[in-house]
Amino acid sequence: RTRSVIRGVGSYLPANVVSNAELAKTVDTSDEWIQQRVGIKQRHIAAEGEFTSDLAVAAGRAALENAGLTPDDIDLIIVATTTPDYTFPAAATLVQMKLGMSHGFAFDIQAVCSGFVYAVTTADSYIKNGLANRVLVIGAETFSRLLDWTDRTTCVLFGDGAGAVVLERVELAEGEPERGIIASALRSDGKHWDKLYVDGGPSTTGTTGHVHMQGPEVFRHAVGKITDVVYSALEKSGHTVADLDWFVPHQANRRIIEGAGAKLGLPPEKVVMTVEQHANTSAASVPLALSVAVADGRIKPGDLVMLEAMGGGFTWGASLIRW
Ligand code: ACO
Repeated sequence: RTRSVIRGVGSYLPANVVSNAELAKTVDTSDEWIQQRVGIKQRHIAAEGEFTSDLAVAAGRAALENAGLTPDDIDLIIVATTTPDYTFPAAATLVQMKLGMSHGFAFDIQAVCSGFVYAVTTADSYIKNGLANRVLVIGAETFSRLLDWTDRTTCVLFGDGAGAVVLERVELAEGEPERGIIASALRSDGKHWDKLYVDGGPSTTGTTGHVHMQGPEVFRHAVGKITDVVYSALEKSGHTVADLDWFVPHQANRRIIEGAGAKLGLPPEKVVMTVEQHANTSAASVPLALSVAVADGRIKPGDLVMLEAMGGGFTWGASLIRW
């Protein structure tokens, strides 16, 4: 049995922290409104000249160090991002260069907030198909660059950051307990594209554009889609919600996370929540949350962990992992 196991985890957050109170100096909002509606207290914002590939490299190096590996040991880099440095080449090839790697291959995945779950699932398929042995999977965003800082309905929600894992091929021996990625489920439905999108791009306006969101519509779809895909991954694996040790959801919004947790019947203490500190970092949010829960000792070897995300497209997905 070929399995993809997580050998290392790492993350990076830009040094500049912007609190709600600080934001309220230039945006018509308040700490109270933001905390009450979405549960965010602060966000990290990348410095001028600090690009998505820089955040990705820092998180990637941390994950490699955590795994006890070097770039020489990696044969594929996948970066999940919505905010690549350039329209092309892929941020992943810039990460490859900055890591001093000229072997192997690298590409980006664009599934917005679901990007990391899509990337982990893609890496798992490449490993199982024999195309790669060790994959550096990174979620990295400078989402602040897509924000209209005069639009209070969106600019308060997001932040910048990066998280990464090293996935490694392992052949499980006869009778050896299940480990690594057990089951995944991915979904999208493009008819919802304009509920959450950026109004620019190379083929339309030739500009980068800004985030537009029908907030209540996103909220209305989120909990149902999240729970559907979690049940789908569980069903494929033969596990139930009661078997889960940890739920590591996309960190968009405390009310969405709590709503999904309650609908699944998960006790709140099994739900990893970092939205308060990081805000919504899109493709970086799941690996950032994972890094926090691994570093503080909550997620331990043998634990059953459900990753989940939902975002623009809409895209959504879940991945069940035996740590
Ligand atoms: N500060 C103060 N007031 C604000 C702000 C703000 N930052 N933003 C909006 N308001 C005001 C509105 O103008 C409105 O005022 P009005 O009643 O005078 O017109 C009022 O607050 C209520 O606005 P609504 O949009 O109805 O607020 P709602 O209660 O729906 O909350 C929110 C908005 C928080 C965006 C909610 O819809 C939501 O959580 N949606 C999910 C969005 C989300 O999480 N997106 C993340 C990306 S998607 C993903 O990653 C899954």
